[in-house]
Amino acid sequence: MADPMARLELFPVTTRVAGDPPRLFIDGVDVAELARHHGTPLYLYDQATLDQAVDAYQEALARHYPGPSIVVYAGKAFLCRALVRWAVARGLGIDCTGAGEIQIAVAGGAPRARILVHGVNKTPADLDAALAHAAVLVVDHLGELERLGAGWLQGASEPELWLRVRPGLAVDTHAYRQTGQEESKFGMGPAELERAVRLCLDRGLPLTGIHFHQGSQFRDPTPLGAGLDRVLEMVARLRDLTGWTPRHLSPGGGWGVAYHEGELPHPPVEPYVAFVAQRLVAGCAARGLPLPTLHLEPGRSLVARAGVAVYQVGAVKRTGPRRWLLVDGGMADNIRPALYGARYSCLPVVEPARPALGPAWVAGPYCESGDVLISGLPMADVAPGEWIAVPVSGAYHLAMASNYNGARRPPVLWLAEGRARTVLRRETPADLLARDVG
Ligand code: LLP
Repeated sequence: MADPMARLELFPVTTRVAGDPPRLFIDGVDVAELARHHGTPLYLYDQATLDQAVDAYQEALARHYPGPSIVVYAGKAFLCRALVRWAVARGLGIDCTGAGEIQIAVAGGAPRARILVHGVNKTPADLDAALAHAAVLVVDHLGELERLGAGWLQGASEPELWLRVRPGLAVDTHAYRQTGQEESKFGMGPAELERAVRLCLDRGLPLTGIHFHQGSQFRDPTPLGAGLDRVLEMVARLRDLTGWTPRHLSPGGGWGVAYHEGELPHPPVEPYVAFVAQRLVAGCAARGLPLPTLHLEPGRSLVARAGVAVYQVGAVKRTGPRRWLLVDGGMADNIRPALYGARYSCLPVVEPARPALGPAWVAGPYCESGDVLISGLPMADVAPGEWIAVPVSGAYHLAMASNYNGARRPPVLWLAEGRARTVLRRETPADLLARDVG
């Protein structure tokens, strides 16, 4: 059976096994100590891993794209004030979906120049928040543009407007994460796009960019090349018809990560960035288009590996041929296995190198048979009371968390410079009741 320590590669870059008994340390901090002190479930974010991910993007853009570029963090993957502060310090923009994420970005100190707003059906409150705080509003469809043109933007010098295009092609990923295909709910096809550009030009709206996003958690960038060609074709036609060309272009985000040792190594960022950059340069040259500022919009590939979820095993149970490790978190803090069939891995926090006893199923406490985090993973003989750590837990876990069965959402500790700091506290029963005004 494969060495369980191969799983360490899934964990944050600062993860080490040290001490007596040997146990997991992240950024020099003893994970068992954190679990004992803060309780479980517990989420940890390692800043060094975040930094390494953003370095990889920024260095690859500098190496492969001759024009200006920026990395815009997709806040939907996970957002809190500490993450916003980090993103701003690292020179990232922040993509916010709607008024809620905009408020978090503002509370974290993001200046207007860094805030970009998305949304497929923005409410009046979302549009007001975007107007008040964003540099860029990405318009999803003509109806939204008509509302903006009919007075929403009156007197406002900001934000600039971009149009979201639907290229008619998705990337290879789970159907729930595909967005670029013809029948997707997102963005505009060529005819709607042409009307939208004309409407902006007729009404003097500040149209400056084009956006598209073909899906999330992909490893093969090829469909992005075809999508980019289709979008540049539309842009060239618009230039011929109207004289307008975009100063900004974003092919979205979506680059994948490895969640399980069977998916290692982590897909490197550089070939993806190089592919997009070279295809954009060639596509613009072939059509006589000026090079736009290239925006990349990663979420998961910036934050997923930085995050670790720590659970305590409450019971070990055998049903038929299965060995269940029943832990104190599950689908309320990580819906991804239930929603997408996502495959995870884990290690015991203490003595992680123990050989596997056989396959184990790690399940949560919630009243759903689908509340299973990990299926059939070779695991050591773990006893009740032990902690397990699930790597690659930084994206779309807490952002999609719920209060199912009255679950209180877990705290988040930020690990940097050898210290852990609480940045989100654990929810309490009082939090559950705070909105219950009946
Ligand atoms: N830009 C736009 C317009 C997006 O819709 C998304 C993700 C991103 C960027 C960032 O994609 P990323 O780099 O994080 O893959 N809940 C799903 C993922 C949903 C992604 C939604 N949009 C999951 O857990 O796999």
